[in-house]
This record gives sequence, C-alpha cells and structure tokens, in this order.
Amino acid sequence: MTNRANGHRRQTTRLRSQQWFDNPDDPGMTALYLERYLNYGLTREELQSGKPLIGIAQTGSDLSPCNRHHIELAKRLRAGIEAAGGIPLEFPVHPIQETGKRPTASLDRNLAYLALVEVLYGYPLDAVVLTIGCDKTTPALLMAAATVNIPAIALSVGPMLNGWHKGRRTGSGTIVWESRERLAAGEIDYEEFMEIVSSSAPSVGYCNTMGTATTMNSLAEALGMQLPGSAAIPAPYRERGQIAYQTGRRIVAMVEEDLKPSDIMTRAAFENAVVVNSAIGGSTNAPIHLNAIARHLGVPLDNDDWQALGHDIPLLVNLQPAGEYLGEDYHHAGGVPAVVAELLKAGLLPHPDAVTANGHSIGDNCRAVETLDTDVIRPVARPLKAAAGFINLKGNLFASAIMKTSVISEEFRARYLSNPDDPEAFEGNAVVFDGPEDYHARIEDPALGVDERSILFMRGTGPVGYPGAAEVVNMQPPAALLKRGIHALPCVGDGRQSGTSGSPSILNASPEAAAGGGLALLRDGDRVRIDLGKATADILISDDELQRRRTELVEQGGYAFPDHQTPWQEIQRAMVDQLSEGMVLKPAVRYR
Ligand code: FES
Ligand code: MG
Repeated sequence: MTNRANGHRRQTTRLRSQQWFDNPDDPGMTALYLERYLNYGLTREELQSGKPLIGIAQTGSDLSPCNRHHIELAKRLRAGIEAAGGIPLEFPVHPIQETGKRPTASLDRNLAYLALVEVLYGYPLDAVVLTIGCDKTTPALLMAAATVNIPAIALSVGPMLNGWHKGRRTGSGTIVWESRERLAAGEIDYEEFMEIVSSSAPSVGYCNTMGTATTMNSLAEALGMQLPGSAAIPAPYRERGQIAYQTGRRIVAMVEEDLKPSDIMTRAAFENAVVVNSAIGGSTNAPIHLNAIARHLGVPLDNDDWQALGHDIPLLVNLQPAGEYLGEDYHHAGGVPAVVAELLKAGLLPHPDAVTANGHSIGDNCRAVETLDTDVIRPVARPLKAAAGFINLKGNLFASAIMKTSVISEEFRARYLSNPDDPEAFEGNAVVFDGPEDYHARIEDPALGVDERSILFMRGTGPVGYPGAAEVVNMQPPAALLKRGIHALPCVGDGRQSGTSGSPSILNASPEAAAGGGLALLRDGDRVRIDLGKATADILISDDELQRRRTELVEQGGYAFPDHQTPWQEIQRAMVDQLSEGMVLKPAVRYR
C-alpha cells in the first residue's frame, strides 16, 4: 500500500483492490476487470499504482428526498478522496425513504443491508464512505460495514433547516401528530393542515426534530463512525460540504491505518452511544438498530443494557418532540461534541478512550468543546428531565418492550401516575386492534366504549405480522375524547412508533403476536396492569386461563396475519428476528 498523504510512496501491505486490478498470477482476469473500469476514462496508471479505491455508497435519489443532497455532497467527497490520493467509485444503494415506502420503510432496511454487503464484498473496494441520513439508511449501511468490515466512515446528509409557521418552529413529523389532532377536533381545516405540515420541511436534509434520523445520525457519531460534529450540520450549510471533503480525505488515511468498523464499534463504543441516546432524547427505534449493528459485529447488546446503562442519564438536548428546538439550533449549540462534553464533565460518558474514525478518542475529540447555547444543550446540573432513558418492560404480555419515559406529559402523569399509594403503576381495560386498518375502521365506533380508563393495544404489527414492523403504535384517542381534552391514552404494541412522536407508548413488544407472543392472547376488556417502577406489563388473568387461551390459539393455527405482497416480504418473514433482537435476518449474523 502507498502512503500518498505524505507525498511519498511507502509500500506496506497489498491493497484489497489489487486482487482485481493488479494480479500478476492472472493477467487474463486482471485485463477483464481493468478494461471495463478504464472505459469511462480511468487510466491503467490510476488503477494499478496502488491507490486505494474508495466506494461512495450513495443513498440519495429522487425517490429518497431526505438523502438527495448526498448527490451534491458526493462531489466534495470525491475531491477529498482524490486530494488524499484515493480513487472514488460511487454506486447506488437501494432507496429507503421513511415516508414514501409502503408498507413501511423498515421492511427495506435488511434488503439494503444485504445488497450493500454483496457490493462491498464482491467489488474492488478498499474502503467505503457511507452516506447516511433518513431513518433506516444509517443502520442499513452501518450493519453492512459491520459485516464486511473494510475501513468505513459515515457522512450525514445533515438535517433540514428549521421549519417555521406564523413565527413558531414547526418540526418534521412532530407537527403532523399535533396538527392531525387539531384537524380531527375541527380547530383547523384541510388547507391549513397541509400548509402547517409542509412548513416543517423547508429544505434538503433529514428530519429536523429529534426523530429517528437525528437520533441515528447522532449515534453514528457517538459510536465513532463519523468525524466529530458531522451529524448536526444542517444540509444546506457550507460546513456540510466542507466536512464531506474532510470525510473523503480521512477515509484514505483510514485505509493506510487499516482502521476498521470492528476497531471502532466496540462494546465500549455502544455503551457510549446508549448514554448519548438518553442525553439527546433519542428515538425508540435506536435500540432496534443499535442492537442489530452490534449483532452483526458479534458485540453483545440487548434491551436490558439499554435500561441499565441509559435509564438514569438526564435529557440534555431540548429538541422536539421532547423539547422545543430543532436541528439548526442543535448545530449552533454544538451538536454531538457539546453533548459528549457535558456528559464528560459530569463523568457520565462510560468510555472516553473509545477510538473514533479520525483516529483520536471520543474524549480527546470532545473534551474542550464548549456549549454555545445552554438552553438547547443543557448542562447535567440543569437537565430538561432526570432519568430520561428507556425502561425495558416484561411480563405475560411480552418478554421485552421499550418505553421512552422522557416524553411522558404532565397530562398523562396526572391522569395515570398520580395515585399516592401506587405512583408508578396504572391499570386499565384493554381495547385491542389487529393492525392499523382495524384501528382506523373502528376507533370512532361508540360501541367500542373507549374512555380514559382504556389502554389501546396494537398487535399484528411486528417484523413478521406487518411485515417489517409498522410505526403505528401511537394511536390517537377517538374524537369524542380529544374534544374533552384527553390527548393521549396509554398505547401498547408489537409495532414501532415514529421517533418524531411524543407519545409515551410501550413499543417494540417482543415476541410479537404473529410469533406467539402474549399479545396474541389478549382480549377486549381484559384488565391490564402496567408498572413503570417494576418495569412490568401483565394481563391480570390466571396462568390457567392464559394457558387455555394459548392452546385455543394454537388449535386455530396461530395468530393470523395478512398475505405477502412481494417476494421480499415472504423471504424476510421466514428468517427475521424480533424487534428486541434488532430485527436482523437470523442467518446473516453468522457472517463476519
Ligand atoms: Fe427521512 Fe425523516 S423521513 S429523515
Ligand atoms: Mg420513522
């Protein structure tokens, strides 16, 4: 290999790409590989001189508007790669658009993962830049980098500019949940609804709220897979193009250093990321995706770790939906490095010595960073909320389900968590829906008898049932309750929830109903007890009755779910793991 950054050639180890382009033992194949890559103007000198070939895994396209700006940023990436002596080769990644893909974008996370593994393994690439942004693009690309384990660095597309409507910040996703309630309650009409929602997406970039996109981009940086500060720079800012250039330069050096995903994404890095996730108020999708990345690396990480490491960490970042600000404010306040610096000052970051993509430790990268707006990024001594992490609930309804305690509203707390004898538990009567279509068809039916003592259940929406696991658990109460000022009922389900939603739902229940989980045994009217202190959730019926229902369900052939609509749905259903296990393809985690 050649060290060009220093202006001289220093042969060390042979580059992976030389097996294709410079194999003296097989001139025939070498010529065949070469001629097609020469045919658009690359020269033999370039391909045979030991320059590293750097893939740019391009997630932007017309179908993926959140990541579309990566098409522009790739120009700066290429310039950086070439300036450092590498050769860029850009290629498309299967599009994953969170809001555009039916039935759900998460169906395609594992498909994009599989396809990228094949590209990274089968083509002459010495390293790769992962262009991340929209929700599922970040985990899909990090999972593939984990499996193939060639040097890799991530580049965020950056958040959109702040949305504004009538002088008020409108955040992507979050404003939809709020405005559809106002629409249902008759406070605004369809035109105004559309205008408010559109105002929240004023530019290129990923969602400007602390939804799954900001969460996963922040965590990619906390894991050490991006340059410091890269996650939060808004997409249209000049610094975004500049950090793309620096990312391109840096990946070439990472080839020389042979710095691989497994060197960066260690157990220590994941523990740091879990802590950062609590401090930023990260999405409930984060445990699914981080558990998946960890499994592809062979690093142990489960939902018990999320509660043990993350629950007591305070919420520092004041972004919607838990707080009030948006992506530009997060960047101006200092982004991920400032959050890490606040955690370091309080001794809360477990592993300051974890190495990152720039070759330095996360502690060295962030220690001296100052928070520039302490209302947006709070010091640990003045947090938005104490103990803002997840709890991992268990019981006869499921073996694991995640609840984000930082978004429990005062209204919710007053109604459900104010019993002085039992301040952390509540009971209610189950109202059970089998999928989002069933919910929409029946929620307004007065015969359902939904009232403020109801707990809404959504089942049939896990990785097998839906398939891919739908973001549908945060269910709006019927209009009659909304009009009485009841904005949120407790919601529980085996599906997911958008990270931009502020609902304190109990999510990602595993195993799901379609995989024989306890939710399949639940019936309308069952009394259910949820204890947040003990982290339990149970149907209050006898074990005998539960067993009787289970036998009956098995006799009926199990919990029924809709047919496959595409070949991939069928293939994935046959081999996908549960949400608590990262929703990975079970056979894929054996390949490392
Ligand atoms: Fe793509 Fe939010 S929908 S980032
Ligand atoms: Mg989403």
